[in-house]
Amino acid sequence: MQDMALTWRRQGQIVGLVPTMGFLHEGHLSLVRLARAQSKVVVLSLFVNPTQFGANEDLDRYPSNIERDLAYCEAEGVDVVFMPKADEVYAEDASVFVQEQKLSQGLCGMSRPIHFQGVLTVVAKLFNLCLPDLAVFGEKDAQQLRLIRRMVRDLNFPVEIISGPIVREEDGLAMSSRNSNLSEAERGEALVLRKSLLAIVDAKTFGERNVKRLRAMVEEFLREATLGTLDYLEFVDDETLEPVGHIEDRPVLVAMAVQFPSARLIDNIVLT
Ligand code: PAF
Repeated sequence: MQDMALTWRRQGQIVGLVPTMGFLHEGHLSLVRLARAQSKVVVLSLFVNPTQFGANEDLDRYPSNIERDLAYCEAEGVDVVFMPKADEVYAEDASVFVQEQKLSQGLCGMSRPIHFQGVLTVVAKLFNLCLPDLAVFGEKDAQQLRLIRRMVRDLNFPVEIISGPIVREEDGLAMSSRNSNLSEAERGEALVLRKSLLAIVDAKTFGERNVKRLRAMVEEFLREATLGTLDYLEFVDDETLEPVGHIEDRPVLVAMAVQFPSARLIDNIVLT
């Protein structure tokens, strides 16, 4: 992979990378199109990265359909699908990892303590293996996106980070590979994430800026509407990810995660 990437670089070709864990959906394909628009060569990596899953998480149940993924990639004009095996990516006694110490502490970092170390490490490795000029990530993983931007800034990776908006199902559920693990009943209830976020936008439009009251409103709604457990609902400064108590003029990221028996779902919105 690195040899090929070096050749492209020497030829002056712009390389765009779309990192994924496979089981592709329209959300991933929208990222491929963003990469395609700006690159001569588009690489899609397909690697279910073990180091970003905690011991009790869903690594074993992460959905996969390689044949379908490859067909999608071909239809979208992806030039290279990079599908390394775990033991090719990680030495057995690997002892160097990328750890961020600030933005990774809250939100998903609270209930998934090793997650972002795994994400940043594998993204750094993918950057070193594929040597992209640009890389595209989805805005559904809002904290991940901000962490990757921070890593690129703090470790001087010569990679431009491009983000793609959340792509939703017709009813508003944010597309995610994990949606396929939901039971029919859970799939019905999964809309509570989007509904909660839209209720916050509505309340804000009518003048409610107090985060305590907005959170209480959503918690009450969730108690009635789902058996899923609210992992977190956080209102944080969009740049620093510091919690805010009151919505002022600066953009506020409202991010939430709900744990259903079969999958943990996340969604977010930025209040501007
Ligand atoms: O967002 C994902 O699918 C993964 O976290 C990523 C960025 C491909 C790293 O494994």
